[in-house]
Amino acid sequence: MPRRIPEELFAIREMTIDDLAAVFHLGEELFTSDYSSSMYRTWDEYEITTLYNSDNELCVVCERDGEIAGFALGTTVEKQHSSWKYGYLVWIGIRPDLQKLGAGDKLFNEIKQRMVEQGVRMMIVDTDADNEAGIGFFRKQGFDSIQQHVYMTLNLSRARRKRRKG
Ligand SMILES: CC(C)(COP(=O)(O)OP(=O)(O)OC[C@H]1O[C@@H](n2cnc3c(N)ncnc32)[C@H](O)[C@@H]1OP(=O)(O)O)[C@@H](O)C(=O)NCCC(=O)NCCS
Repeated sequence: MPRRIPEELFAIREMTIDDLAAVFHLGEELFTSDYSSSMYRTWDEYEITTLYNSDNELCVVCERDGEIAGFALGTTVEKQHSSWKYGYLVWIGIRPDLQKLGAGDKLFNEIKQRMVEQGVRMMIVDTDADNEAGIGFFRKQGFDSIQQHVYMTLNLSRARRKRRKG
């Protein structure tokens, strides 16, 4: 039986500038090249600083015993010719030793509520097709109609080498 931590022991609050380093390092631990072998989604310091600067109300953290246990970073998107406002949950991550204890649920509900307050009508998430935990988690939150997305690469250094030889 997994250890169950009462969910009230996870405190949710808005991310502050003092959290940036801890969130960044936790993201480095979670979003490694194993997490996403493609370069499609890359975790770096600009991800957090950009989201924090543009949508700090949609940057929330979860604490356990005064330490960062997880985070959820989102933004809103408005499309031309559409009255719908979309809420894009860009990153959500929980410390590996505290996963599967309900912290992700709590963070997700907080960011969803904040998006509703901002007039969001549709939430969007994306992740690698083989991220079972992520997909299982999003399904549990009610996401459906998974759409496949094709990601392609073109190695330009090979073409350059050929040109040099020719
Ligand atoms: C995805 C993630 C945020 C879930 O956080 P969590 O705190 O472990 O999730 P919770 O404990 O709140 O779980 C809620 C539900 O999600 C689903 N879920 C969670 N972990 C799962 C897993 N490993 N496999 C399948 N489903 C899972 C379950 O349905 C669970 O409900 P249950 O406990 O009643 O079975 C966490 O696994 C994580 O940080 N993963 C690495 C980063 C990542 O992939 N982020 C998503 C893309 S940005």
